[in-house]
Amino acid sequence: MVFIGAAFLLSLASLISSSIIQNGQVRDVNFPNTKIESIAVNDAGWTTFAPNATELAYKGRWDSKFISYWSSPGLKFGFTGDKVAITFGQHTIAKVLVGYRLDTQDWQFTNLTTSGVHQFISPKTPGFNLSTAPSRNFELRVTNWGYGVQISGIHLAAGARLLKAPTYTRNIEIIGDSLSSGQYASYEGLSSWPWALCNALGTEFTVSAYPGNCLVDTECWGNLRGQSYQWFQTQDTGWRSTQLYGKNPEPWNFTAHPAADLVIIHLGTNDNNTHNNVSSATYLKTYIEFARKVHDVWPKSQIILVSLFNSFWQDGADYRQSGIMVDEIKQVFDTLKGEGWIHYFDTRGILAHNDIGPQWHYTDIGNVKLASALMQYIRMKFGWEVEGAGPEILHDTLYWNDEPGY
Ligand SMILES: *[C@@H]1O[C@H](CO)[C@@H](O)[C@H](O)[C@H]1NC(C)=O
Ligand SMILES: *[C@@H]1O[C@H](CO)[C@@H](O)[C@H](O)[C@H]1NC(C)=O
Ligand SMILES: *[C@@H]1O[C@H](CO)[C@@H](O)[C@H](O)[C@H]1NC(C)=O
Ligand SMILES: *[C@@H]1O[C@H](CO)[C@@H](O)[C@H](O)[C@H]1NC(C)=O
Ligand SMILES: *[C@@H]1O[C@H](CO)[C@@H](O)[C@H](O)[C@H]1NC(C)=O
Ligand SMILES: *[C@@H]1O[C@H](CO)[C@@H](O)[C@H](O)[C@H]1NC(C)=O
Repeated sequence: MVFIGAAFLLSLASLISSSIIQNGQVRDVNFPNTKIESIAVNDAGWTTFAPNATELAYKGRWDSKFISYWSSPGLKFGFTGDKVAITFGQHTIAKVLVGYRLDTQDWQFTNLTTSGVHQFISPKTPGFNLSTAPSRNFELRVTNWGYGVQISGIHLAAGARLLKAPTYTRNIEIIGDSLSSGQYASYEGLSSWPWALCNALGTEFTVSAYPGNCLVDTECWGNLRGQSYQWFQTQDTGWRSTQLYGKNPEPWNFTAHPAADLVIIHLGTNDNNTHNNVSSATYLKTYIEFARKVHDVWPKSQIILVSLFNSFWQDGADYRQSGIMVDEIKQVFDTLKGEGWIHYFDTRGILAHNDIGPQWHYTDIGNVKLASALMQYIRMKFGWEVEGAGPEILHDTLYWNDEPGY
């Protein structure tokens, strides 16, 4: 990784090229280089706060060492003054791409460094002068499901105050695999359907999804445990977690966090793969038990089972859509529907074969279609209205045809 002008604070203005691959080509993006020199706790130019400051809101799952896991975890807080920097710990993966924003202005992206200090906000930050409010809000999100960050300290301007950022009133939990973690989408978690759905509705959310995992508790594509075990843990099933915690992850303390109002489960594609040796009978039995356990954790929650219809085949000259674990997911619904908290969302027809990339995952458009359909379903089914529409949700999706001269 090459830093341009990293030696001094001016590095905020310098740009480094990074690569996001689009149809085999490098997409032309420039991410600001935010790395600055380290900040001592008693540095007169800054006020430093510890990672356990009560004003900090960690979104998604973070462990007792302030290390992030799963898809799209984030950190949000309010602040006074004119600058924000963060010291990242040794468990921050080098080059991890994070999205960040001031208030609800457009997302910006930057690659982090292990144990580095990064300044995200200064008076030069685009949009800084658009508001004269006495305090502003800052949000940071990790794009990659497997990489993570560790927060070691927050730095604001000298004498500035750290504040709680506003929160949405509702909370959604999404439980899945690669199809829900944004794998192979442009900005990964920040291009995924859970991200698009929850940000468009305006809800707090956690995306407990990890590529390759099964619902059934067995080793699937290198993930040692299935979601029926791992979902109750803080850590995901990735190599970072295994390296740090071995086979003993920290149990997730559900009572220390707000209950989910709505749980969306989109899981079973890896159970369905013969490579992983899960029988459909075991999947069915596990799914019924798992749905009950999740509901026991949050007895007031509603649970939506999202069907798996992401496979397409060519039948002569026609394309056809086929499902995965179709009868089993319907049977889970049929078994539990009398209890009044389970719902079945049929995804047939939402996607077409060209909404799936060559590596069998939703394209950016595929993610958007699924999110939009689910959003309307949730509004109609539960009477939820949108909280705070307007700000950018998906980055780099503004393309248009303004050519009038056909
Ligand atoms: C920044 O992160 C992106 C996404 O992971 C990666 O493709 C790119 O190589 C990184 N760039 C640098 C300069 O580290
Ligand atoms: C934060 O951690 C420090 C040191 O571990 C401890 O002394 C302090 O009480 C903690 N603060 C809060 C708000 O938990
Ligand atoms: C905001 O205003 C300050 C003071 O006039 C100026 O130095 C800074 O460049 C402005 N920021 C932007 C992004 O225009
Ligand atoms: C879980 O969180 C609750 C509420 O903050 C707390 O009272 C309880 O001690 C925690 N349990 C464990 C095992 O840490
Ligand atoms: C697959 O599962 C069956 C039934 O549980 C078991 O007998 C068999 O050994 C398993 N095969 C592999 C390769 O794990
Ligand atoms: C995968 O799902 C399809 C469609 O529901 C079903 O026909 C098939 O038996 C399943 N295979 C496995 C191995 O679970």
